[in-house]
Amino acid sequence: MTSTSMAPVRPRRLAFADLISVLTSEHAEIRWKLTELKGSTETKDFTHAAAILKDLDQLFRQHIADEEAQVLPILIEAYGVKGAEQAIVVFRQHRPIYLLIQEVGRLASLPPEGLATNETKLGALLIKHTQAEETHIFPNALSTYYAKSRGASL
Ligand SMILES: [Fe+2]
Ligand SMILES: [Fe+2]
Repeated sequence: MTSTSMAPVRPRRLAFADLISVLTSEHAEIRWKLTELKGSTETKDFTHAAAILKDLDQLFRQHIADEEAQVLPILIEAYGVKGAEQAIVVFRQHRPIYLLIQEVGRLASLPPEGLATNETKLGALLIKHTQAEETHIFPNALSTYYAKSRGASL
C-alpha cells in the first residue's frame, strides 16, 4: 500500500558485504522498473504503470531504510559527520525521490498530463543517485567496514 509518509521499515539483517550486493542488485531492479515504467507511460498503460510504481515504492522504502540504518552509520562512525558528508548529501536525495515516486504514482491514476515529465525526472534522479552510491559510497563503506573488522586504524 502506498502511504504519504515514510513509515519506518525494519532494516534487513545481513552480513555487510551481502547487504551491499543486495543493494547493488536492487539498483539494477530499480533501473529495470524505470524502463518498464517508461514503456507503460508511452503506451498509456496506466494500470501497469501504477502497479510498477507500487512495487517501486515498496522496494525503495526497504532499500533506503537499509542504506540509512546500515551503510551511513559505518561511514559516520569512521569519519564523523563532516567526513561522511558525501554520503549524507547523496542519501538526502532519498526523501525527494520517494516523494516523486508517490507523485508519479498519483499521476498514473489520473489523466496523463504531467506524468511523462515527472517520470522522466524520476528516472534521471534515480539513475544519478544509484550511480553515485555504486561509484563512491558503497565501495567506501565496504572498505571502511573491512578496515574496521581488521581493527586497522583509518
Ligand atoms: Fe540511496
Ligand atoms: Fe541505493
